[in-house]
Amino acid sequence: MAFSLFSKSPKAILARCRDDHATKMRLRYAPYYHAIEAQRGTHIRHDGREMIMLASNDYLGLSFHPKVIEAGRDAMNVWGTSPTGARSANGSRAYHIELEEKLAAFLGREACHVHAAGYLSCMASVASFAQKGDVILADKNLHSCLWDGIRLSHAHVERFSHNNVADLREVAATLAPDAPKMLVLEGVYSMEGHITKLPELLDAVEGLGCFTVVDDAHGFGVLGREGRGTADHFGLSDRIDVMCASMSKSLASTGGFVAGSREVIEYLRTHSKQTIFSAALSPSQAACALAALDIMQREPEHRERLWKNTARYRDALHALGLDTWGSETPAIPIVLGSKERAYRFWQALLEKGVFTVMSIAPAVPPGKDLIRTAISALHSDEDIDRIVDAMAYAVKKL
Ligand SMILES: Cc1ncc(COP(=O)(O)O)c(C=O)c1O
Repeated sequence: MAFSLFSKSPKAILARCRDDHATKMRLRYAPYYHAIEAQRGTHIRHDGREMIMLASNDYLGLSFHPKVIEAGRDAMNVWGTSPTGARSANGSRAYHIELEEKLAAFLGREACHVHAAGYLSCMASVASFAQKGDVILADKNLHSCLWDGIRLSHAHVERFSHNNVADLREVAATLAPDAPKMLVLEGVYSMEGHITKLPELLDAVEGLGCFTVVDDAHGFGVLGREGRGTADHFGLSDRIDVMCASMSKSLASTGGFVAGSREVIEYLRTHSKQTIFSAALSPSQAACALAALDIMQREPEHRERLWKNTARYRDALHALGLDTWGSETPAIPIVLGSKERAYRFWQALLEKGVFTVMSIAPAVPPGKDLIRTAISALHSDEDIDRIVDAMAYAVKKL
């Protein structure tokens, strides 16, 4: 210890960690990383109190479905706990291949590759295909994993205003004709709950030869026939080259997938560092996703319930005069406009037993500080009554 105190070369990075303002603020106001003591469906115990979870992305409510739990348990009995390596090194397992084939068939794609995190799948969907000299057209409000993929690709990036067709058209008109191009979108924007204007955006880049990537983490399971996602919702699946998504939302597991043509997926397996050098999806998580995929197709009642709950919840928020940023899906933000208001609102909800998450600038555009909520098929009518009462209380606290 004495050595480090009097060392001539203090560690600048350690000092950065110690003095970081954002970390100090996070620890002082403690809005994130809360320790949940127990959970059953939408109900959690936190600080010894029973509360309703309104910040998870368990859209179809399958994370406590008995068949999903049983599948995860059975897979561990058969395959152990972990593949303990990357598939490029110690091989794929039958459960990876089965899940990939079933996902590809469901989506009407030739092939699919699963990763241990949605973040990896979506980052790889950009980073593996774009390279230096290419141009990427990117919606300004993309998820962090897609920006990381863009950065790693070394391609030139042109941003266009969020879901703004005219702006994309204007940006596209300035591009050199011969550079290879990629368009990157989210199917449903995770923070805003907006559905991408896919038909119009694709028309805006018509003739440019754009390889199109859609991250449908929040559209898969929610939109389209039996939950096939946003491209299916618009009947435009054949115009999307790569669909990627997380399995930690509607599929009630963890991990992610990339789906596309066989040649595209084989190219990813050759070139994607996220695929080659990262350990594979675990047996239990693959089995849970597979069971959830089956349930999505056999039990439409979960999606029906999700949309019924969404309509009821969103109407109640509007009746309270709350701004939901035009969300069209179960991912529903409540825009409060400043971090102070967002913090007061979040605290009032916590006080009333409703667990949400705050998102403040720069994570959202300035003036859009918000509470992000997501409704689930598993929320009961009584849950929603309680949530709405808590919202009314929080409005009074503003
Ligand atoms: C749009 C979007 N893409 C990708 C991811 C990453 O998925 P995962 O959490 O499974 O790593 C998320 C998760 O928050 C997301 O919202």
